[in-house]
Amino acid sequence: MNIDLRSPLHDRAAIEVPSAVCQLARPFNGTVCSNMGDEYPIENNIIDLIQEPEDLSIAQSTNHWKVTASVYEDLWRKRSTSILTGEDFPIEKEQELLSEWVSPRKGGCYLDVGCSTALYARTLKKKEPGATLMALDFSVQMLEEARFKAEADQTDIYFLRADARNMPFFSKTFDGIVMGGTLNELTDELKVLFECRRIIKDDGVFFMMHLIKSGTWYGRLLQDSAEWSGIKFWTTEESNELFNRAGFRVGEQFEKGIVCFSKLVPEN
Ligand SMILES: C[S@@+](CC[C@H](N)C(=O)[O-])C[C@H]1O[C@@H](n2cnc3c(N)ncnc32)[C@H](O)[C@@H]1O
Repeated sequence: MNIDLRSPLHDRAAIEVPSAVCQLARPFNGTVCSNMGDEYPIENNIIDLIQEPEDLSIAQSTNHWKVTASVYEDLWRKRSTSILTGEDFPIEKEQELLSEWVSPRKGGCYLDVGCSTALYARTLKKKEPGATLMALDFSVQMLEEARFKAEADQTDIYFLRADARNMPFFSKTFDGIVMGGTLNELTDELKVLFECRRIIKDDGVFFMMHLIKSGTWYGRLLQDSAEWSGIKFWTTEESNELFNRAGFRVGEQFEKGIVCFSKLVPEN
């Protein structure tokens, strides 16, 4: 299925992207352009809708290093949930919860925001190969690693280099949006959440995994020292307040250690 993106420069202009771009077994290089004439490169199947991202925090900058991208999933992501929940929490358990709450359907359209290596997008595509998956990040290094892993997994996904503060999608495009750990890293979380509300369908589902404030003094000390790099933490009540302000209500939620999983649904 060809997809239509929204031009980052002209709100009403569409950019048609051929379906061959998500067929990762065949490298795709070229350009796409909107009907207003703005043009964007596609390099090795990755559609680049931005030049250079602006206003990076220190934590965000590290995601633009090749070394971070290459070790991120195997050295950190697969162990992080156990470390941060304080119990044995294999990545498969998180993937099961993701698949259960999002419940991707054939013909549905889903977006992984701040995808890094696109663990969530790959999980959903494997669960429902008939769904369309898009994965967005502003780090080209992360997207290259994600593309590599997705091809190895035989999960065809559209990879987009774009800024989540200005999503290149028309309103009410997605049946589901997923965000794993990205909220804590955003410089403008409310703007991104408002964008998510704009692009999700009214009956869509938003899977959120984020880190909350620690309940222990030593945990807080560690988190306070991480805040200098741009990572933010909220209590569950504070983050729920953020979700509500952006137009989402909490459908389901549970916390383990400092990890909070939420199934958010749009308020109509
Ligand atoms: C904690 S990592 C995400 C991990 C990933 N979702 C997972 O489940 O493994 C945060 C990612 O968000 C990206 N990011 C942060 N701010 C962004 C923005 N404004 N637009 C696009 N990507 C952003 C970073 O480049 C980084 O790859």
